Amino acid sequence: MPTPAPSSNGPWDAKLQQFHGGQDWAHLDNFIEDFSVTTNAFGMPESAKQASVSSIEHSHHYPPADQEPAKSSLAQFLWPTSWQQDGDRLILGNGASELIDLVIRMAPRGTWKPGPFRTQYKEYERSARNNDYMMLDSESPEKANVVCLVNPCNPTGDYMELPELQQWILDNALPGGHVLIDESMQPWHSSEFRNHSLTSARDFVERIYQDHGISVFVMHSWTKLWCCTGLRLGSVVCPTADHMRAIKKLQVPWSVNTVALAFLDAVVADKIYLNKTWQMTGAWRKQTVDRIKQRFPAWQCHGREFLSWIWVDTKSEEVAQKAVDLAKANGVPVRSGRPGYNLPTYIRLAVREPAKVDHLFKAWETI
Ligand SMILES: Cc1ncc(COP(=O)(O)O)c(C=O)c1O
Repeated sequence: MPTPAPSSNGPWDAKLQQFHGGQDWAHLDNFIEDFSVTTNAFGMPESAKQASVSSIEHSHHYPPADQEPAKSSLAQFLWPTSWQQDGDRLILGNGASELIDLVIRMAPRGTWKPGPFRTQYKEYERSARNNDYMMLDSESPEKANVVCLVNPCNPTGDYMELPELQQWILDNALPGGHVLIDESMQPWHSSEFRNHSLTSARDFVERIYQDHGISVFVMHSWTKLWCCTGLRLGSVVCPTADHMRAIKKLQVPWSVNTVALAFLDAVVADKIYLNKTWQMTGAWRKQTVDRIKQRFPAWQCHGREFLSWIWVDTKSEEVAQKAVDLAKANGVPVRSGRPGYNLPTYIRLAVREPAKVDHLFKAWETI
């Protein structure tokens, strides 16, 4: 196989693409665990993995053009009691990434603004730049035509509860504007996540559309919660069924493939997987934070307690680089805060079971 040209951004084309974690594992002979992504520590749920493997049998046929029955299954997961009423605002995509780009393409041109946190997941900004928006700073007092907020925020781990989030939307979106709220990491909140989610705030979304013409889209990447980044699975809840149809009009047909649809249709029924996710992620996260505090007292851990990753300020560019290099050399890659986020003293590490974390701390013995 040809070897790719060496680059500080690994396989990413630094001029054209945004850097993301999750690319090192395939190139490491001694690979143990990927700490560079924000996926669920429990890996791919077995039942859904089996369903997707079986679906290969049908992959000589086209996938269903209406994304069914997987789309309705996801609607039932999001709105157990009102899915028949709300489901017509939902559409699936080839990862959230496809939908982020589609929604920004169809939004009104003008100014673009990110959420208020120190940094956030960068594909929103990339798409806005590609589509010639005028970029505003997160601290700008100006309202924008398109605002995008990642909540909980990857990578910083900040999180706004609904009242604060709704106020932020009202304070930052221009009348007629589009608002993209990314709740990919929000289902980790707890078994009560729906009550804290913008997907449940139907009245608010309806009201600001009617009163101010502001369209609120709630974006989900499902590749993190259900640890299936290779399958490409995302969705967006639109403010109205008409908005959903506007996306459908632009979306290429069959963008979600048979295997991903089969996975989604099965995974939403796996309550055991989610219960252990809610039970253990916070506990394992706290254990790792405590270990960091003890072993590296100068490092500062950021992010809400329920999240699937830890955002760590090592307070030193040199130390952060060493932590990244040692982790990679020992088969346990972490995400550097330098590429994309431009925060070179930071690293991001996934929450994983303690035995895997042992390997990471062993890798860091010489720091
Ligand atoms: C907050 C957030 N949104 C969206 C995505 C895109 O995910 P995907 O295209 O894999 O669904 C990611 C991936 O890292 C993410 O962290």
